[in-house]
Amino acid sequence: MTEARRALITGVTGQDGSYMAQQLLDKGYEVHGLVRRSSTFNRGRIDHLHHDEHLPGKNLHLHYGDVTDAARMHQLVSELRPLEVYNLAAQSHVRVSFDEPLYTAGATGISTLNLLEAIRSVDTSIRFYQASTSEMFGASPPPQNEDTPFYPRSPYGAAKVYSYWITRNYREAYDMFAVNGQLFNHESPRRGETFVTRKITIAVANIVQGEQSELWMGNLDAVRDWGYAPEYTDGMWRMLQADVPEDFVLATGTAYTIRDFLAFAFEHVGLDWQEYVKFDAKFLRPTEVDELIGDASKAKQRLGWEATVLPPELAKIMVDADMARLGGAPEGQF
Ligand code: NAP
Ligand code: GDD
Repeated sequence: MTEARRALITGVTGQDGSYMAQQLLDKGYEVHGLVRRSSTFNRGRIDHLHHDEHLPGKNLHLHYGDVTDAARMHQLVSELRPLEVYNLAAQSHVRVSFDEPLYTAGATGISTLNLLEAIRSVDTSIRFYQASTSEMFGASPPPQNEDTPFYPRSPYGAAKVYSYWITRNYREAYDMFAVNGQLFNHESPRRGETFVTRKITIAVANIVQGEQSELWMGNLDAVRDWGYAPEYTDGMWRMLQADVPEDFVLATGTAYTIRDFLAFAFEHVGLDWQEYVKFDAKFLRPTEVDELIGDASKAKQRLGWEATVLPPELAKIMVDADMARLGGAPEGQF
């Protein structure tokens, strides 16, 4: 019997980490995930994959650690010797990065170097995926692709630019298979509850149930290119299977405003969003990214990757899931 391919995922408890773990397990990988110690339970998104690792066929193994801890990253890479490392951990909220810029620089920026250094000293043949982002393009006008100059507009975006370049540098300096996925916004029923799409779909479900009557929001004019998260984690995997290490944009190429997403979500249950949405300046950012619209033609050509779920359908998937949750559906179903 051949040995299972082994992967390490940081950020396994997050939206993308949970889909990545699920997809790798389905492909027969032995999956190792990094989790942070927390006083409250933070494994809701992977519990259905992991609830008892002693059961036959359970191949997801969790390890305590924090990506800001260089010694722990070195120890884990050295003990596990994975074939592939997916670095998905980050303080990923743009608005929060203005409140915690220094913390974000460490967790979202410098921590990438901790993993790259671990790989460099343990085994440079380990393949490394870095979760880069369209936020790096920031104020550069759309459509944005792999050649678009970076112009980050937040401490989060600036930290991710560092991670992008240090990943490229290690690829060039040490001949490592280290790549950046420059991913545009991607959402799902597992999306964190304070990101705009999920905030909207939870509110819709609550309003239908009579548990909420107002939705307080910030800038409704921003344009985003929203795709469906499981398709994007598949794209990450494809990047690490390529013959040569390269950076790729993943996006749908569609452009909708927050207003449009509100309309898709509310109209799905027969409501008019304008009757519920109110403005609160606390949700504005000191500097905003006005327009992100990706051009993923390189990924289509070289990886055969293409987004198929577009925002109108995505909104329906997310509203239906939040309604089902309120109706008592188990979390593992999503
Ligand atoms: P997410 O749901 O916020 O998940 C972030 C993950 O990182 C969580 O598992 C979190 O653990 C973990 N984490 C945070 N700080 C950590 C630390 N210091 N040490 C160890 N783990 C830590 O984010 P996501 O939407 O899945 O995104 C995954 C990655 O892609 C992130 O790097 C994000 O910046 C990037 N990205 C996301 C998008 C998008 O649209 N979703 C687009 C482009 C790039 P806890 O559960 O304990 O908090
Ligand atoms: N979160 C939030 N809450 N955003 C709001 C709100 C609100 O109440 N009202 C308006 N917005 C606007 C924000 O100002 C922003 O223009 C847009 O909605 C999207 O905000 P988020 O959903 O928080 O996502 P983001 O685009 O800032 O960042 C996400 O996508 C990046 C990729 O482009 C995150 O997932 C990042 O980690 C990721 O890199």
